[in-house]
Amino acid sequence: MAQDSSPANETTRVLHLTDPHLFADKSGELRGTVTWDSLSRVLDHYESSGWKAERVFVTGDIIQDDSAEAYRHFVEALSSLGLPVHCIPGNHDVRPVMRSHLSAAPFDYCAAIECGRWLVVGIDSCVDGYAGGRVSDEELERLDAAINRSDAEHVLVCLHHPPVEMGSAWLDTVGLDNRALLLSRLAQAGRVRAALFGHVHQVYDEEHGGIRILGTPSTCRQFLPMSEEFAVDNQPPAYRRIEMGADGSLSTEIVWIEDA
Ligand SMILES: [Fe+2]
Repeated sequence: MAQDSSPANETTRVLHLTDPHLFADKSGELRGTVTWDSLSRVLDHYESSGWKAERVFVTGDIIQDDSAEAYRHFVEALSSLGLPVHCIPGNHDVRPVMRSHLSAAPFDYCAAIECGRWLVVGIDSCVDGYAGGRVSDEELERLDAAINRSDAEHVLVCLHHPPVEMGSAWLDTVGLDNRALLLSRLAQAGRVRAALFGHVHQVYDEEHGGIRILGTPSTCRQFLPMSEEFAVDNQPPAYRRIEMGADGSLSTEIVWIEDA
């Protein structure tokens, strides 16, 4: 398990990025948005904002076109931050290709890391050939083992698919098949304070059974919340700031890139 040198009494600040959907061709568009330009604007905003993170979490759908080149673009974009970048796959990722490009520092793939008094575990919720997700028995066991091995007082779990229903008929048909099982395992662990996800391209922030469940909009196009059918929203690209307190508190805000 990766260790961090952060003093246990300090807050850990995290930049959460999700669903950049990059292409080999940097001019590639997803529903009218050039996804490379959109990610670049998000990173430029973060770097000029004055708010500094110690690490970056990325919750999947890094690429859109199955290409290795798009992962190289992602590495190029994120390397300039000079921060550790913890990545998990989404349904649009090609897991063997992603793993081969994002396993060397400063990147890691589905890692368990300790930072201050927190343990952060990235899990794979993807199923080949299926837009929805399912956390396999092996991943559930790996999650339990990581928590049981750690003395951390607080746990954050990162995954691509939402571990709750979104109230959006089309999105809930491509959600996490075994979300109830996952939520009950997280509750059983007793130390899980929050779960962080992507996939839905919209904001979500609610508590379920004492666990804060956080969804973050994409760095490119968003989906319309609570929609029965597929619908694109006109909200701009976004990222999330997270501050994880030594006491288990978690404060967070979404930053919208209004001029994108
Ligand atoms: Fe996505």
